[in-house]
Amino acid sequence: MIDVRRHNANFCGEHFVAHCEEQVRRTIHQFRMIAPAERVLVAVSGGKDSLALWDLLARLGYDVDGVYLRLGIGEYSDESGDYARRFAAGRGLKLVEIDLRDEYGFDVPTGAKAAKRVPCSACGLSKRHLFNRAALDGGYDVVATGHNLDDEAAVLFGNVLRWNVDYLARQAPVLPERAGFPRKVKPLVRLAEREMAAYCVVRGIDYQVEECPMAAGNRHLGYKEALNTIEAQSPGSKAAFYFEFLDKAAHRFNAGFGDEQDALLSCASCGAPTPVEICAFCKLVERATTTR
Ligand code: FES
Ligand code: ZN
Repeated sequence: MIDVRRHNANFCGEHFVAHCEEQVRRTIHQFRMIAPAERVLVAVSGGKDSLALWDLLARLGYDVDGVYLRLGIGEYSDESGDYARRFAAGRGLKLVEIDLRDEYGFDVPTGAKAAKRVPCSACGLSKRHLFNRAALDGGYDVVATGHNLDDEAAVLFGNVLRWNVDYLARQAPVLPERAGFPRKVKPLVRLAEREMAAYCVVRGIDYQVEECPMAAGNRHLGYKEALNTIEAQSPGSKAAFYFEFLDKAAHRFNAGFGDEQDALLSCASCGAPTPVEICAFCKLVERATTTR
């Protein structure tokens, strides 16, 4: 049912599922992402990657719940939430839901405008903050996200194009836990985007196919296309680009990264770790709710 050229392999449905499981198992093991008794919280968007990740972790026997953040991006958000809820209900899994508008008084489109941020930046900031908080409040050890090989290679490509050395220092498939932060892991980094779509088809997972309308024109989409062109001519380039970076170059950028993290304060408003008095999320909430 699918060919994976970088592995020089064709799979039937059954063996493809086994292949995906094996890739995730190896990734978790290699990067020491999750210990057997730990509790995992998957950040679920309703798209293919996060639902496939949740399914894979549950199949591999992990103690795993999902968390869904209602962003208030019109129909896109309504539908995404339905996919996430239906997936959880159909499999007897627990989904924690957070509503940005009800709980913090703003949604991504209006909040971003009021705070003069681009929507994806307000959204990303809210997700990082609220997933951390949900994990700590719920007693989870690890937050897992559905970033796949294409996502990570595209981000790496963008960071290399501009030599964003700070971001290169942070681009790892696992970020260790520290005071105020749970561990964060990306168990799908060995699997490509089209493989996750195929996985969902084989496993009968219904997901939100539409991309977020706010992300149109996003730079990363262009980087993905560029990498796909290279990959088509030379299968395996994308995986080599990313994994050889982790292997041979990442350590050159993260010297000193930990020191800067040790110097964090507690946000005066919410207690989250922050380099300044009030954390970026609390500032966003304030601007998003007072300037209207
Ligand atoms: Fe966050 Fe689109 S999902 S801006
Ligand atoms: Zn705060």
